Amino acid sequence: MRNQIVAGNWKMNNTTSETEKLLNELEKQTLNKSVKVYVAPAFTQLSQAVRQLEGTPIKVAAQNMNAAASGAHTGEISASMLQGVGVHTVILGHSERRSLYSETNDSLKDKVATALNAEMELIFCFGEELEQRKENNHFEVVRAQLAVLFELPEKAWDQIILAYEPVWAIGTGETASPEQAQEMHAFIRKEIEENYNSSLAEKVVILYGGSVKPSNAQEIFSMKDVDGGLIGGASLKASDFAAIVNAF
Ligand code: 13P
Repeated sequence: MRNQIVAGNWKMNNTTSETEKLLNELEKQTLNKSVKVYVAPAFTQLSQAVRQLEGTPIKVAAQNMNAAASGAHTGEISASMLQGVGVHTVILGHSERRSLYSETNDSLKDKVATALNAEMELIFCFGEELEQRKENNHFEVVRAQLAVLFELPEKAWDQIILAYEPVWAIGTGETASPEQAQEMHAFIRKEIEENYNSSLAEKVVILYGGSVKPSNAQEIFSMKDVDGGLIGGASLKASDFAAIVNAF
């Protein structure tokens, strides 16, 4: 059986004291032990979160990373810097990075390669915009975004978690229907099968992200090819995030 994963992407939220409070509240929640849980605070809160979550099963992920090992990249963070504070998972290709900070399939290729070489686990995000869905281009867009990964050797997929996040569902309150999520996840698995083989396709964890909340998580997670969620807004409240983890 594939891993079930729920990851909270905090985006640019939570100062030091807010992080401490949220993690304290999260530690008090009873969480389904069969679900792997991650939180992804901002860079400045990573080491704090790692320290506070030591001894718990909750893992800490970063929200981004630079492709270069070091050097003249003002304001950027490298893989070894993340690992130095005990972070071994990174979210790459989030739609906000693509749309607001000009990340492209090409630039992501380098980040993916760096993360893999550094033996980090990565949560690779992708998904179509509203116009692209309206024009019925969503499968083509996702195929092109995934092509970045399809040049990798099969072994690399041990380190990759996929997160399908339709841009029109992020932070909008509008969720893809469970059927829309399932349809896309099944398409993604088929793509993996065509580029590799069916056993890899069956193994890869595919998360859904976009307005997942306690009220809709169960329905979405019950879909056969949906292995969990990447949660934005609802991950900022411990009881909501716990309810989503426990929706499996
Ligand atoms: P929301 O859950 O706030 O829609 O955000 C989803 C997301 O972008 C997670 O990475």
